[in-house]
Amino acid sequence: MKTILIAGGNSGIGLQAARDLLSDGNRLILLGRDPHKGEAALASFGATAGTASFVAADLSTHDGVRDAAERILTAHDRLDALVHTTGVLTARESRTADELHPFFAVNYLSRYHLTQLLLPALRRAERPLVLMMTAAVPPIDGADFARFPQFASFNFNRDRKPVQLANHHYAAHLTRTEPGLAAGVVNAGAAKTDIMRAAPWYMRAGAKVLGPLVFDSVETSARNVVDAVRRDNWQGPLYWGKPGKFEQHTRIALDENVTAHLIHASQTLTDA
Ligand SMILES: NC(=O)c1ccc[n+]([C@@H]2O[C@H](COP(=O)([O-])OP(=O)(O)OC[C@H]3O[C@@H](n4cnc5c(N)ncnc54)[C@H](OP(=O)(O)O)[C@@H]3O)[C@@H](O)[C@H]2O)c1
Repeated sequence: MKTILIAGGNSGIGLQAARDLLSDGNRLILLGRDPHKGEAALASFGATAGTASFVAADLSTHDGVRDAAERILTAHDRLDALVHTTGVLTARESRTADELHPFFAVNYLSRYHLTQLLLPALRRAERPLVLMMTAAVPPIDGADFARFPQFASFNFNRDRKPVQLANHHYAAHLTRTEPGLAAGVVNAGAAKTDIMRAAPWYMRAGAKVLGPLVFDSVETSARNVVDAVRRDNWQGPLYWGKPGKFEQHTRIALDENVTAHLIHASQTLTDA
């Protein structure tokens, strides 16, 4: 039985992955912001709910991440897999309590920070796995990291790529620095979930019109994460770019100087 933490597991793609991995007989810890969604998720598991638990936490702040990590480490000695499906889709200029943009804080920094704090439990697993879900962002150098990490006057179209690509750099860093740990990034594809709730009106309108024609099912969007946990003998860092096609992946090979710069900035921000 594996112990698997899915940050973002109370909703959408993370919840689907939790359901699939629970049916394999694993122990699941779901983390999300909304306790009602957490309770509803556990209730939806029926007989298998006994091996699932929910942690309510707001990962948009450093304190929120630290508190969540402490509670998880108190309850669990060992984590076999950590899956990050937390995400917000907001294009508005706003700031968290740490003066960071929420898209950066949730969709990248919380993943770095939570993973770093949970490394002691991951190191106790025979084959620890860390998976991060993003949009379609092939692991290719060339994104502009000059505005990282503050992203002053956040502009979604300009800034989303360096935020998302930071996940790939972190997967590469983890692979280099943590012997035995496999790390990867998974493209979510496009699926009908709660992710659009804070999106600009034009994105919501586009999703409403085009969604029925082009969306993947939530099951398909979750498939590569589920397969990566089930078939845990892959060597990272990998990027799965096609939802539902586990065999089609790309090795992440990015400029190590950029990785070092991003990791240094992340360490400085979080002290982790
Ligand atoms: N669906 C798509 O088409 C699509 C496209 C591109 C990328 N993605 C990415 O795929 C991943 C899964 O998203 P989804 O589609 O399944 O959307 P979703 O249903 O909205 O799930 C997002 C999850 O993130 C959690 N979350 C958001 N902010 C948080 C915070 N501050 N602290 C803790 N948890 C927080 C949410 O918890 P609460 O619900 O409790 O707030 C929820 O569990 C995300 O990383 C998303 O960016 C999805």
